[in-house]
Amino acid sequence: ALGGGSVMDTAKNIAVVVGHSEKELVSVWEFSGLGCKTREITAKTLPIVAITSTSGTGSHVNRFAVVTNEKTKEKTGIKSSFMYPRLSLTDLDILCSMPPSLTARTGFDVLSHVMECFVSKESNSLAGLHCLKAMQIVFHYLPQAYNEENNIKAREAMALADILAGWALTTSRVILPHALSHAVSAFYPKAEHGLVLAALTPQIMRFNIDRGDVEVIEKHCEIAKMAGERIISSTKKEAFKSVDAVERLLKKLELNVTLQNLGVDEKDLEGIVESSLTAMKGPIEANPVSVTRKEILCLFRGAMK
Ligand SMILES: [Fe+2]
Repeated sequence: ALGGGSVMDTAKNIAVVVGHSEKELVSVWEFSGLGCKTREITAKTLPIVAITSTSGTGSHVNRFAVVTNEKTKEKTGIKSSFMYPRLSLTDLDILCSMPPSLTARTGFDVLSHVMECFVSKESNSLAGLHCLKAMQIVFHYLPQAYNEENNIKAREAMALADILAGWALTTSRVILPHALSHAVSAFYPKAEHGLVLAALTPQIMRFNIDRGDVEVIEKHCEIAKMAGERIISSTKKEAFKSVDAVERLLKKLELNVTLQNLGVDEKDLEGIVESSLTAMKGPIEANPVSVTRKEILCLFRGAMK
């Protein structure tokens, strides 16, 4: 596979489906946990080589593949240790060919992965180290990679952050921003992942800080520090500096968008909430603050404007 997240994930899905098929092709949904039949992914999975053309998904170094069912409007992930690529390659010449808008959108995906894995209920010390380093890199180097396509140092740094984020995804888990953004993309397949995350993330960070316990507050203060903010004490007020830093970054990258800008219609929001609750149950449960159906709807409404 040579490409971004969609290309590498498609190759992984094909490797699973073809590897487990005999006379007739099996359905990828049998491996997702969403259908009525649930199959285990085994060593029959075909080997793949992944060459990433973006610094965004971490798919070249992890065991996940995202897949969308356009009929049921569900976007979910399948995972297995047999899905790690046998060989992963990162080529700076390929990364330098990314246009600025793609650099920004995929780069913000890296930041989302590590901010989410860091505050996730499933976080751990190893993921924490990977996440903090990757955040520091993204806040510093992503604007440089965005403004100067051929800045090798910035491209190399973002490639490293992408790998660290890919590892963090393997030991921890994403939370609400990914859960809700995948549901939006299931309804609006043309709404790009990085842009949907940009529309939702500040809103969700505010919600988590507002309702979060001491640990959630402390973790958001750490995020702010990685963005270069001066944090005097671990208070809620200081934790909100992490949201300010993310919003400033989004502005620099021209990613300050709303769901409405991305074409999301208010009338679809109830259905999108439902899709997130079924297809993204795991990441919703990993959010450090528990959330009700009504609160999810409020978060979507808040990100509309
Ligand atoms: Fe992502």
